[in-house]
Amino acid sequence: MKLLVLNGPNLNLLGLREPAIYGKQDYAALLRMIADWGAELGLETDCYQSNHEGDLVDAIQGAYGVYDGIVINPGAYTHTSIAILDALKAVAIPAVEVHISDVTRREPFRQVSYAGMACFAHFIGLGLEGYHQAMIALKEKLEKD
Ligand code: DQA
Repeated sequence: MKLLVLNGPNLNLLGLREPAIYGKQDYAALLRMIADWGAELGLETDCYQSNHEGDLVDAIQGAYGVYDGIVINPGAYTHTSIAILDALKAVAIPAVEVHISDVTRREPFRQVSYAGMACFAHFIGLGLEGYHQAMIALKEKLEKD
């Protein structure tokens, strides 16, 4: 089972970026955790981060026929990008949405998630552990279906 873990804008600045909201661990630490969780769960994982909406759309399109599942934290594009939503719907690869912070308790403009509309599960406000839970949820779904 092969998973693609996609991160959107500013997630490369984890650790530096608003640590009270996103924590002190950096993006490199997240990549190490994902590799360790993948090994534990028997999942192959590739990670990709971009600050550009079209790059994320390209990565989703490129996942077709290559990956069995997608974990996605689209960052701020969560709340704006119909293009990312459409790409997820187009490839129809099972996808799980992750947000490190609890967006449900933040500003009104964070209350809509377009990408989330194409995801079967959502892990919100669990910190980096949300990526782990997303991987587990995908493994369970892929084994069941
Ligand atoms: C985020 C929440 C978004 O609202 C924000 O724009 C981000 C990170 C999160 O992981 O909590 O960049 O997706």
